[in-house]
Amino acid sequence: MAKDLTQLEILRELEPVAEQNLERHLSMAKEWHPHDYVPWDDGRNFAAMGGQDWDPSQSQLSEVAKAAMVTNLLTEDNLPSYHREIAENFSQDGAWGTWVGRWTAEENRHGIVIRDYLVVTRAVDPVALERDRMIHMTNGVQSPADWGGFLQNVAYVTFQELATRVSHRNTGKACQDAIADRMLQRIAADENLHMIFYRNLCGAALDLVPDQQIEAITRIVTNFVMPGHGMPNFRRNGVLMAKHGIYDLRQHLEEVVAPVLKIWNVFGRNDFTARGERARDELAEFLEKLGKDVVKFEEQRDRALAREAARAEREAVSA
Ligand SMILES: [Fe+2]
Ligand SMILES: [Fe+2]
Repeated sequence: MAKDLTQLEILRELEPVAEQNLERHLSMAKEWHPHDYVPWDDGRNFAAMGGQDWDPSQSQLSEVAKAAMVTNLLTEDNLPSYHREIAENFSQDGAWGTWVGRWTAEENRHGIVIRDYLVVTRAVDPVALERDRMIHMTNGVQSPADWGGFLQNVAYVTFQELATRVSHRNTGKACQDAIADRMLQRIAADENLHMIFYRNLCGAALDLVPDQQIEAITRIVTNFVMPGHGMPNFRRNGVLMAKHGIYDLRQHLEEVVAPVLKIWNVFGRNDFTARGERARDELAEFLEKLGKDVVKFEEQRDRALAREAARAEREAVSA
C-alpha cells in the first residue's frame, strides 16, 4: 500500500497550483473601498459626544435582518482565529504565505464595512455588538469538529466561503435597503473568489492524494458547522436565519455542498483505493440522510410559519 504524503510534501507538491491560483485571484479581484458603501449622511453623534445613544426604535431593519447582520459581522470579526489556523497549516512560504496575507487583508475589509454601516445607520445596538465581539474573539473558533491540518482546512474553507457568500447575499435581500444590499453583494463577490481559490486547491489535493483528501472532505461535510459557531445567540440567530431562508438546510445541501462535490467529480472518479471508496460511501450515505432532513425541516418550518401568521392575524383582529 502506498504511504501517505506528509503535510509538508503535499504543500511542496501543490505550491505551483497555489502560485497559479494566486495569480488568477489577483487578476480577478477588483479594488473597492469600504467608505464608498456607507451612507455617512445618516450618521450622528452618540451621547458621549453630546448626541443621543442608541434606541431600538432607531433601527430600520427587521428582526431577521438584524440577526443575520450581527451573525455575519461577528463571523468576519473572528478573522484572527481563522488566520491563525490557516497560517499554521498553509505555511508562510512562497505563494502560500502571499495568499494567506492577501486573503486576511480582504476579509478584514468585510468586517470594517459592515460595522461602519450598522453603526452609522443605527441598525443594531452598538454596545451589545461590541460586547458580543469581545466574547466571540476571546473564545476564538469554537468548532466541535477538529478541522485541523491542511487537507481538512482546505476542504472546510471551500464550503465555508461558499456558505458565507450565500448568507451575505440573502442577508442583503432581507435588509430591504438598497445600500445594505449593494454592500453585501460586494462582499459576496469576494467570498466567491475566495471559494474558487480553495476549491481549486482542494481539487488539486484530491488528484494528488485521492484517498487522503476524500477522507478529509467526508470528515468536514459530515461534521460541518457554520463558522460563527459558539458566538453569543448563535442558535437563536441561526434558527431565525434558517426559518427565513437566509441560510437553511436546503441551501446548504443544494447551493453549497452538492455543487462543489460535483466540480470535484467526487462520485465519478476511479482513483480511490478501498480506503477512499469507504470514505466516499460514508459521504454518499450522509448526503442521502441530509436530503431527507431537508424535507423534514421544511415541513416543520411551514407549520411554524403558518402558526405565526395565524397568531399575527388573531392579534390584528383583537387589536
Ligand atoms: Fe468575509
Ligand atoms: Fe472570504
